[in-house]
This record gives sequence, structure tokens and C-alpha cells, in this order.
Amino acid sequence: MHLFLALLTLLPIGILSSPIWGPQDQSQHYDVIIVGGGPSGLSALSGLARVRRKALLIDSGEYRNLLTRHVHDVIGSDGVTPAYFRWKARQQISEYPTVSMMNGTVTQITQLNSSAFSISDAAGNRYTSRKVVLGTGLRDLLPSTPGIAENWARGIYWCPWCDGYEHRDQPLGLLGRIESIFGLAHEVETLDTDIIAFTNGSLTSEGLQTLSKAQPDWQSIVKVYNIQVDNRTITEIERIQDGGVVNNVTTKTEYDKFLVHFDDGTAVERGAFFTGWPSVQASTLGTSMGIAPVGNKLTNNITTMATNIQGAYAVGDANMDGSTNVPHAMWSGKRAAVDIHLAIASEDLESAIAAAGLSKRNDNSLSDRDLLLQYIGEDFEKLWK
Ligand SMILES: Cc1cc2nc3c(=O)[nH]c(=O)nc-3n(C[C@H](O)[C@H](O)[C@H](O)COP(=O)(O)OP(=O)(O)OC[C@H]3O[C@@H](n4cnc5c(N)ncnc54)[C@H](O)[C@@H]3O)c2cc1C
Ligand SMILES: *[C@@H]1O[C@H](CO)[C@@H](O)[C@H](O)[C@H]1NC(C)=O
Ligand SMILES: *[C@@H]1O[C@H](CO)[C@@H](O)[C@H](O)[C@H]1NC(C)=O
Ligand SMILES: *[C@@H]1O[C@H](CO)[C@@H](O)[C@H](O)[C@H]1NC(C)=O
Ligand SMILES: *[C@@H]1O[C@H](CO)[C@@H](O)[C@H](O)[C@H]1NC(C)=O
Ligand SMILES: *[C@@H]1O[C@H](CO)[C@@H](O)[C@H](O)[C@H]1NC(C)=O
Ligand SMILES: *[C@@H]1O[C@H](CO)[C@@H](O)[C@H](O)[C@H]1NC(C)=O
Repeated sequence: MHLFLALLTLLPIGILSSPIWGPQDQSQHYDVIIVGGGPSGLSALSGLARVRRKALLIDSGEYRNLLTRHVHDVIGSDGVTPAYFRWKARQQISEYPTVSMMNGTVTQITQLNSSAFSISDAAGNRYTSRKVVLGTGLRDLLPSTPGIAENWARGIYWCPWCDGYEHRDQPLGLLGRIESIFGLAHEVETLDTDIIAFTNGSLTSEGLQTLSKAQPDWQSIVKVYNIQVDNRTITEIERIQDGGVVNNVTTKTEYDKFLVHFDDGTAVERGAFFTGWPSVQASTLGTSMGIAPVGNKLTNNITTMATNIQGAYAVGDANMDGSTNVPHAMWSGKRAAVDIHLAIASEDLESAIAAAGLSKRNDNSLSDRDLLLQYIGEDFEKLWK
């Protein structure tokens, strides 16, 4: 570390500040290109802006929480609209001169070599960058049953932390595949006690076999949490009251009301639903460029967010560290920004040392980059393990 600092002071400034390489048109060349302008991409951009990296964020604007009324469980921003949250972030980041943001859809990312990517967008622009960050998110696969897509994120929810509190002590419905529906009960047991699991005809002998394997204790869950199981086939979920209109801001309560219609012509009333439906990568960019998929996620190193493709990072919902929420998106974006900044710094340092004809220290201690990683808290994960 001391040598690292000593070198920085010894080297002529020109060596470090002039570009080591780059295409003819420097304006289209970036240190980093970030795909996706949700909280993960914006957080990565913020980190890079603070240390004056030249970075471009390209965003197609199809946010996972686009339809949700308010963002929750994000300290300092609890209860703001998702649009306000992103607007505020963009406004703050736009004050930093080395970074920029644009609307667009990235159509292809090609790795040129270990330190360069070529990026194309739908408008025909081409860029190059040394690193890429994918903050491209997940897309929820909703059943086609009438009333579900129409009311998604406004009474029909995916995450109890995000929207449960507004519907506490209300009649609740659980919707989802048979293997995921009863697990949801653990997450809502502190919020609601009147719970119906709508299995939608999936409690067949085949379905029960799958369920018993996936969740051997499902019958105990049903008993302990006093869950009613309704196996009738759902034909429609009809809204009869809008919690966006009928609500109490002071108590943070939204009074949505729905009728669940069945194929036998009857219906049951519920205030809100939590669902266990599957999701997929919102973009194929990651797998197309060779990032290994794991289930519906992109494989990444949980410390650095780096993927198996050198110089490419996966952050936010799209990555594999098992967490899909705004705080995780911001944390992982920040982590990627730190690793990228340090990676570029060590690459440039090495080139500068070579260009200056200096010899590189060669002992058994940690490399400069590993040393720097310790300062960003790598030890934290080790302790945690
Ligand atoms: C109904 C609902 C409510 C939620 N409420 C909350 C909440 O209250 N609190 C909370 O913490 N979390 C909440 N979440 C989860 C939260 O929305 C996600 O965890 C978060 O949005 C993840 O951020 P991200 O940046 O990874 O992805 P996203 O926010 O989904 O952003 C991904 C971006 O990448 C862009 N993109 C994709 N492909 C391309 C491409 N090829 N070119 C350019 N751009 C591209 C998309 O257009 C999109 O803008 C909610 C989720 C849902 C579904
Ligand atoms: C990688 O490709 C870029 C862009 O074509 C080029 O400028 C650079 O010299 C290459 N770097 C290596 C290490 O090959
Ligand atoms: C970019 O998209 C956002 C919405 O996602 C919109 O508010 C903004 O006006 C767009 N900017 C431009 C320059 O089109
Ligand atoms: C209910 O089951 C039917 C038939 O399998 C299916 O088409 C529909 O999408 C399901 N609806 C819900 C809400 O799960
Ligand atoms: C659930 O509904 C399906 C489809 O109607 C039916 O085949 C199955 O027997 C029902 N399960 C139970 C436990 O009643
Ligand atoms: C909201 O709840 C508070 C506290 O119970 C109550 O005083 C207030 O009148 C309610 N507001 C509305 C609009 O119902
Ligand atoms: C993740 O990256 C760190 C830092 O480069 C490295 O020490 C660690 O071994 C990597 N983890 C895995 C699982 O590859």
C-alpha cells in the first residue's frame, strides 16, 4: 500500500491522466457503461460519479416496480412514489460532470478483449467501454386470469415488506404455484390472520406430491396459521374498491377490496393478495454475452458483483445473491462501482509502471487490488460466514 501511494506521488501526472488506449472517437468511449436505470444502475452510476469515472447509463424505463403506488422499506424514502425516487436520484447524479444518462435500449454487448466491450443500442449508436454493469432487472410472469395484470402492484403484491403494512389486519389472499403458496404464510403471519390460500385447482394428487416434497410441513403451516385452503378454479379477480383512493395516509392504510370469482359462479371478498409467481430476466443481454445463468439469475461474485465474463458486472434483481429489493439493488450497485474503480486503477497503475520503466514490486504480500478490497469491507463477509 505504501508503495502504491509512493508511486502515485512519484509518477509524472501526465502518465496517469492521459488515456492509456481508446478508439478514435473518445466521446463514445467510456470507463463504464451501465445498462438499466433502476436503483441498482443508478447506485452504480452514483459511486462512479463520486470518483470522476467517465460513465454512461442507458435505460429503457421498464422498471419492475413501475406500477406500485409507493416505495417502502427504503430508509429516507419510505412512502415516496417510485417515479419520484428515480427522478430525485437522476437529478442528484446529473450534478456530476463525468457521468451521463440517456433513454434507450441496449441491443448487444460484445466483449472485444479482456479490457474492452462494444455496446450497441436500438437507435444505432455504438459505444465502447472498459467495463459494463448489467442492472437490467427481473420481469414478473403474471397469470392471464382477468383482473391480475390490471391490479398488479395495487392490491395484488409480490413482497410483504414492500406492501404488507398498508394491508395489515385485512382479509388476505395468497396466490401462486402450489409449492410457493404456503411458504408465503411465514412472511405475513405478523400482518394478517384471516388468510385464504387460493390453490386454483392445483391440489391434485400430482400437485400434492410436488408440494409434499417442496414443503413437507405444509399441513402444519395450514393448521398453525389457521389458513383456509380454497381449491376452486379462479375465473376473475374483480376490484370493488381502490385503496389508491380509499386510504388513510396518517395510519398508512390502503383499503383495496376485491372479489375472487370462481368457475362455480360464487365469489369471495379479500382486501389484498400476496403472490408466489415466477419471474425471469427482463433482458437476454447477460446470457447472450456469456454470463452464466443460475436459475432465473445471472451468476456473480457476491463480494464484487463481477461475473464470469471479465469486466462485466451484474447488480440488483438480475444478480444471484438471492435478494430482490431496493436496498439490495443500491448496495450491489455501490459494490460494483467500488470494484470497478479499483480494478481500473490497478490496471492503469500497472500500465503506468510499465510506461515509466519502473519495476513492479514482486513479493508474497497481497496484490494492491486485494489490499484495496479489504478497505471496502471484504472482511465483513468473512466475519459473517
Ligand atoms: C409490485 C412491486 C412492488 C415493489 N415494491 C418495493 C418496495 O416497496 N421496496 C423495495 O425495496 N422493493 C420493492 N420492489 C422490488 C424492486 O422493485 C426491485 O428490487 C428493484 O426495482 C430492483 O432494481 P433494479 O435496478 O435491479 O431493477 P429495475 O428497477 O427493474 O430496473 C431495471 C432497468 O433496466 C432496464 N433495462 C432492461 N433491459 C435493458 C436494455 N436492454 N437496455 C436498456 N435498459 C434496460 C429496464 O427498462 C429498467 O429500467 C417491488 C417490486 C414489485 C414487483
Ligand atoms: C482491446 O480492444 C480495444 C478496442 O479495440 C483496444 O484499443 C485495446 O488495445 C485492446 N486491449 C487489449 C489488452 O488487447
Ligand atoms: C427519459 O425517460 C423518462 C421516463 O423514464 C422521461 O421522464 C424523460 O423525459 C425521458 N427523457 C428524454 C430525454 O426523452
Ligand atoms: C388458474 O388455473 C388456470 C388453469 O390452470 C390458469 O389458466 C390460470 O392462469 C390460473 N390462475 C391463477 C390466478 O393462478
Ligand atoms: C382441486 O381441484 C382440482 C381441479 O378441479 C381437482 O382435480 C382436485 O381433486 C381438487 N383437490 C381437492 C383436494 O379437492
Ligand atoms: C386516519 O386515521 C386517523 C387515526 O386513526 C384518524 O384520526 C383520521 O381521521 C383518519 N383519516 C381519514 C381520512 O379517515
Ligand atoms: C470474489 O472476489 C473476491 C475478490 O476478487 C475473491 O477474493 C473471491 O475469492 C471471489 N469469490 C469467489 C466465490 O470467486
